[in-house]
Amino acid sequence: MLKLKRERTATTTMNANAVLVAITLALLTCLPRCIYSAERRLLVNMTLVRNAPALGAFCLDGSLPAYHLHRGFGAGARNWLLQFEGGGWCNDIESCLERAKSRRGSTRYMTKWEVFSGILSNNASLNPDFYNWNRVKLRYCDGASFAGDAVFKNGTSLLYFRGQKIWEAIILDLLPKGLGQARKALLSGCSAGGLASFLHCNNFTKYLPSNASVKCLSDAGFFLDERDITSNHTMRYFVKDVVSLQGVKKNLDENCTASSLDFPELCFFPQYALKFITIPFFILNSAYDVYQFHHILVPSSADPHGHWNRCKLNPAACNPEQLNTLQEFRRDMIVAMGLFYKYSRRGGLFINSCFAHCQSESQDTWFSADSPRVHNKTIAEAVGDWYFSRRITKEIDCPYPCDTTCHNLIPSTQALVQDLRSY
Ligand SMILES: *[C@@H]1O[C@H](CO)[C@@H](O)[C@H](O)[C@H]1NC(C)=O
Ligand SMILES: *[C@@H]1O[C@H](CO)[C@@H](O)[C@H](O)[C@H]1NC(C)=O
Ligand SMILES: *[C@@H]1O[C@H](CO)[C@@H](O)[C@H](O)[C@H]1NC(C)=O
Ligand SMILES: *[C@@H]1O[C@H](CO)[C@@H](O)[C@H](O)[C@H]1NC(C)=O
Ligand SMILES: *[C@@H]1O[C@H](CO)[C@@H](O)[C@H](O)[C@H]1NC(C)=O
Ligand SMILES: *[C@@H]1O[C@H](CO)[C@@H](O)[C@H](O)[C@H]1NC(C)=O
Ligand SMILES: *[C@@H]1O[C@H](CO)[C@@H](O)[C@H](O)[C@H]1NC(C)=O
Ligand SMILES: *[C@@H]1O[C@H](CO)[C@@H](O)[C@H](O)[C@H]1NC(C)=O
Repeated sequence: MLKLKRERTATTTMNANAVLVAITLALLTCLPRCIYSAERRLLVNMTLVRNAPALGAFCLDGSLPAYHLHRGFGAGARNWLLQFEGGGWCNDIESCLERAKSRRGSTRYMTKWEVFSGILSNNASLNPDFYNWNRVKLRYCDGASFAGDAVFKNGTSLLYFRGQKIWEAIILDLLPKGLGQARKALLSGCSAGGLASFLHCNNFTKYLPSNASVKCLSDAGFFLDERDITSNHTMRYFVKDVVSLQGVKKNLDENCTASSLDFPELCFFPQYALKFITIPFFILNSAYDVYQFHHILVPSSADPHGHWNRCKLNPAACNPEQLNTLQEFRRDMIVAMGLFYKYSRRGGLFINSCFAHCQSESQDTWFSADSPRVHNKTIAEAVGDWYFSRRITKEIDCPYPCDTTCHNLIPSTQALVQDLRSY
């Protein structure tokens, strides 16, 4: 049977240290029974990038970009993990103006302290391979996976589409803080941030010492160029709009865009960009990624009468035809990764069959007693085994509903009316 699990943070206390551990009472509501557990949480302070304006790097609204850095220690002191924050995209002026007034488009509205858990945790028993690295969360405020470079100005409205510059400004800020002398590095990210990891992987290496070990990881960033249930290319049109509005094309891999001259914007999709990535890459994704299910495969525009609503909220309520559609989606995803799975010698893969989206950032899916497993391996173990070359890690789960270790993290009813711009 499936487990449905939601976590709610009740209270957070903090004092005035740059970095601190706060006691948070996490109320875990798990069916059929409830557990209360007190958990120690690491909260990390925001750093604004002061030299960003000199590089033309601004959030959508013109505010300064930012990151959160927690220093490594001991054997990890010279290793660096950079993680792109995620949060959808905006594809037209109207939605970008909306975003500019929110935490997704402005550091003014962001929380100034971020919880570092899962792959960002500093506790060896919660994050065995990366706990003592320098860990950085790059805040997302551009709306195009850190890859745009344009400005919109019409006399009354001004929007900065400067994701690519934000990426460069943050890297330049971190280089003198030790990143420039890194021995090991991992570029990571989840959702729109997982996509950023594909887009910036090659570029990242160029900033680091040539003898450093550099690898990249994408969590829930393998967005498929898939038609929706009405055979409409909803996702492809959306991506096309993001790429042209935000000036992304020139920052896509040149060899990829050269090979698809008619549709260069397709290189925004990992399935086309992947073969041009020369750095060891790890793809972590669910084959039934709920975000892709709800916004690419069955967007509300393709299901105006809500025939899929029950199935979206609970996979056990899907009818056989709907299940079949979901199984086809899984097959298409596995096919899109086929060459990588078969031929990439330094690549890694963990494709499980859970209804989830982002599994590396939260402790309960990354590494805990009951976290999701494939072939009895947790995500933290699979990623660590791959990064440190302990063993070949290419895990593909059996199809739904065989996996009993899933944490199905399904958005609420309200999410049913949202679209690709939502987060
Ligand atoms: C947060 O970090 C900034 C530097 O990025 C520092 O100036 C500030 O004092 C810190 N705030 C607290 C409350 O520690
Ligand atoms: C690390 O996590 C373990 C397991 O949750 C916990 O028992 C321990 O207290 C944590 N250590 C620190 C320093 O927070
Ligand atoms: C600028 O664009 C915004 C958003 O599309 C629009 O509301 C506004 O009227 C435009 N201003 C001018 C001067 O065209
Ligand atoms: C890379 O080379 C530098 C300079 O020779 C050296 O200090 C550093 O230890 C080397 N790093 C690794 C990971 O070998
Ligand atoms: C990274 O990419 C940007 C945009 O293409 C480019 O301007 C920059 O020089 C690249 N960085 C390196 C170190 O190659
Ligand atoms: C396909 O999707 C796009 C974007 O959602 C929409 O504008 C268009 O009307 C749809 N076309 C059909 C035939 O449904
Ligand atoms: C494109 O491919 C050539 C030849 O393999 C390589 O030298 C070059 O670095 C690649 N360019 C990019 C942007 O990856
Ligand atoms: C799965 O791994 C755990 C350790 O993580 C081990 O205790 C358990 O015996 C393993 N189960 C099987 C069936 O191999």
